[in-house]
Amino acid sequence: MSKGVTVWFTGLSGSGKSTIARILEKKLRVMGQRVEVLDGDVIRTNLSKGLGFSKEDRDTNIKRIGFVCHLLARNGVIAIAAAISPYRETRDYNRSLIGNFVEVFAKCSLDECEKRDVKGLYKKARAGEVKNFTGVDDPYEEPLHPEVVCDTEEQTAEESAEQILDRLEELGYLTHVKRETL
Ligand code: ADX
Repeated sequence: MSKGVTVWFTGLSGSGKSTIARILEKKLRVMGQRVEVLDGDVIRTNLSKGLGFSKEDRDTNIKRIGFVCHLLARNGVIAIAAAISPYRETRDYNRSLIGNFVEVFAKCSLDECEKRDVKGLYKKARAGEVKNFTGVDDPYEEPLHPEVVCDTEEQTAEESAEQILDRLEELGYLTHVKRETL
């Protein structure tokens, strides 16, 4: 059985977490890896249904996702979490719980995320129609020592996914042979 690991994305809304996560998922599957993506937007429609965006609710959401990653990773699965996860302490809590933890910072300026405004939520936040929006009127704490920093303003999602694969190989979670099969 291959070694399980959790790839934990963090970053502002619109920074590219889900897009990179899905590309990474596909690439890992082609390599024959067992992989599961836990996406904040999706998790909030089921496992975390009813939770809002207060610090308490976000922490509950993130700890639930972390717990599922823990269960998956200990069974040899590559668990990929893609949620804003704005609080450093809560991400570190998951890191300690899970162990094999690769934190990926989807780095993108607030300006650029607002320009992209994929879901139109930044506009609503600026208009005061959505309150406590991360980066606008709610905090985002950048990771201090992430295993990977994907600069999504400078590189494509495809390049970011490759960068993460390189790092997973470097950290011993993927064998070179597996990557050669791509
Ligand atoms: S987290 O803070 O708990 O990690 P999560 O990633 O699950 O957040 O959900 C974030 C998504 O919810 C955003 O991409 C956006 O689509 C939506 N959303 C709605 N309201 C907010 C808000 N106040 N702050 C951030 N995201 C919000």
